[in-house]
Amino acid sequence: MSQAPRLDTEFVRAQFPALETGWAFMENAGGTVAARQVVDRVTDYMSRVHVQPHHAYDVSDEAGRLIVEGQRLMAEMIGAEPEEVMVGPNTTTNVFLLAQAIRSWFSPGDELIVTNIDHEANNGSWRRLEEFGVVIREWKFRPESGALALDDLDALLTDKTRLVCFTHCSNLTGAVNDVPALVRRIHDAGALACVDGVAYSAHRALDVKAWDVDFYLCSLYKVYGPHLSILYAKREHVERARNNNHYFLEDRLPLKLNPGGPNHELTAALAGVTDYFDAVHTHHYGVSNLPRLGRMKQVAELMSAHEEVIAQPFLDYLVNKREITLIGPASVGHEQRAPTFSFSVKDRTPLELARGLAREKIGVGTGHFYAARCVDALGYGEDGVTRASMVHYNTTEEVARLIATLDAII
Ligand SMILES: Cc1ncc(COP(=O)(O)O)c(C=O)c1O
Repeated sequence: MSQAPRLDTEFVRAQFPALETGWAFMENAGGTVAARQVVDRVTDYMSRVHVQPHHAYDVSDEAGRLIVEGQRLMAEMIGAEPEEVMVGPNTTTNVFLLAQAIRSWFSPGDELIVTNIDHEANNGSWRRLEEFGVVIREWKFRPESGALALDDLDALLTDKTRLVCFTHCSNLTGAVNDVPALVRRIHDAGALACVDGVAYSAHRALDVKAWDVDFYLCSLYKVYGPHLSILYAKREHVERARNNNHYFLEDRLPLKLNPGGPNHELTAALAGVTDYFDAVHTHHYGVSNLPRLGRMKQVAELMSAHEEVIAQPFLDYLVNKREITLIGPASVGHEQRAPTFSFSVKDRTPLELARGLAREKIGVGTGHFYAARCVDALGYGEDGVTRASMVHYNTTEEVARLIATLDAII
């Protein structure tokens, strides 16, 4: 059998104009830089067909087709039907819209489980349903692993549980939760599962049908694309959900969930995200008959194998340096974590560290990253933590620079 190819980082990096600036971008869990294919698609749409779409003249017709195609490709990319994938402005808004659309499914006394590790996007909109009599239960993560545990969920599930909202991967601890196992347990208890895949999706393929999730969320500006997000909902749920849109759009799936519809030029440019992944796939595997999701899985294998290699020295450094406390799993294995490393350093504030790194053109993040409940539970105060988060376009050289610069600051 021929060996699996290794990621050609030179090829990959040539697809990202922002990487030519010399910056080592390590705040990717906050947002990745955009692939050239995405930039080109925005420019093309806005230069040529930026008119009101779906009217009976050629330019308008083409604009409409590009928008529909961008949305369709996102559905195909995650193994869903186009009617099941709503394109919206961001995940926070998408969860808010979802909560509005399914609010009437809950009666007073029904229970809904949220976590204290999630980004507030998959938290606040659900917790607010308390005002309609829904009982909110909090599933606490384990500080030692930085992950959610099935046993702790078991202790919370009752015959009144209707919905469990949790993250696939923590944007703070980097820990990956076992979505298929958790969803099975949630369904056995008669409840639905709403999974935040935002911190997971830059690193792995998304297979919503295999996981059997009811709702899944992903922000495309963290997947090399424009500032848009997708909400997947099983078709039966989209059909049953209340219409958030104009009354005459009641039957338009999934548009009924999104009042006003999606941003046109950016939705059209979503085809640039799949163009990018197609380019990576063809470069490494040649022309292929595999369906898109199969190709995405191969690309994800290339990406995560590379991410493990570049993350290992950084993990070793964080674990062995006396002044540093690592948050989350002490492993780079992609089953356990994404290469999103939050940490604290004795006698140094996160801001001091970030400013010191920026002097060497290394961009990292600081604060609570809107996972404020998680940072509070871990006992980090106002300053929060420092986060260096990598994706497949980062290199061993960049990580070596990060370690050397950090070490000089400490
Ligand atoms: C895990 C996670 N979920 C949700 C969000 C919110 O995404 P958006 O900015 O699209 O609302 C973020 C953003 O950082 C995130 O990291």
